[in-house]
Amino acid sequence: MKHKKILLTGASGKLGTAIKNSGLFQDLIIPERNELDVTKPDTIKNFFGTHDFDTIIHCAAVARMKECEEVPDKAIETNIIGTSNLVNQTIKKEKEIGEKIRFIHISTDAVYPGTEGNYSEKSETIPYNNYGWTKLGAECAVKLLEDYCIIRTSFFDPDNMKFETSATDAFSSKMPINELVKCLQVLLGSEFKGTINLGREKRSDYEHYNEFNSSLKECKLKDILETVNFNMAKDASMNLNLWNKIRKQESVD
Ligand SMILES: NC(=O)c1ccc[n+]([C@@H]2O[C@H](COP(=O)([O-])OP(=O)(O)OC[C@H]3O[C@@H](n4cnc5c(N)ncnc54)[C@H](OP(=O)(O)O)[C@@H]3O)[C@@H](O)[C@H]2O)c1
Repeated sequence: MKHKKILLTGASGKLGTAIKNSGLFQDLIIPERNELDVTKPDTIKNFFGTHDFDTIIHCAAVARMKECEEVPDKAIETNIIGTSNLVNQTIKKEKEIGEKIRFIHISTDAVYPGTEGNYSEKSETIPYNNYGWTKLGAECAVKLLEDYCIIRTSFFDPDNMKFETSATDAFSSKMPINELVKCLQVLLGSEFKGTINLGREKRSDYEHYNEFNSSLKECKLKDILETVNFNMAKDASMNLNLWNKIRKQESVD
């Protein structure tokens, strides 16, 4: 793979930390929040003016569904406007350096309706809560770039599962976080441009988690919905044909 100098946003978060700790990405530029706050265009402009990179992995977001429901203005400001700010500055920097910057945007399976499952990248996007809408808004800005890769995914950290129960009747394509990081490395080095689903084959959430925590207890989606203030997907599973094709092309095991 050609050497990449990568600007990583959201490096202190779950996915950002997994990317840093993976050792798969050699040349990472990691701004502190006071150096680059996506809601403050001047900080992005200053940081872009003083650092060189050819790739951005954009993980910064308000990523908790609960928070997006309770503080929608912050979710709009960070996810929609913040991503737009980053895209605007990327377009300006591309003009300055005369080269395109590869922009890897971490989106979510929550842009799909979450009812029928098996969503392909061409399926209708009608999110079922504030988080999904703000992430869909972010995608719109990213699509104005030329060399973008929007990754629709869902992940969990097998080493940090705090819940004791999981639903046997809620389905998804979630994947362990370290598996996602390996997929990101493959996509980064590939020629792929556009939107792509990344995940595992459809299973119930209970089955996904039970593989890593056998003491997990079964519950139903309605039990969880009674305890939260946001809507959740019944079936968020995704069609992975495009990813499987790219895996083959890139000779991934
Ligand atoms: N978690 C999931 O299951 C899941 C599923 C699908 C997609 N995603 C997407 O994956 C990405 C990473 O998620 P995650 O779970 O790693 O999130 P996370 O743990 O909540 O981390 C969010 C990161 O964003 C940063 N951030 C928030 N507001 C910012 C701002 N205004 N300027 C700069 N940085 C800011 C945070 O920095 P501070 O530490 O300074 O607050 C933190 O580093 C997100 O785009 C999320 O939507 C997540």
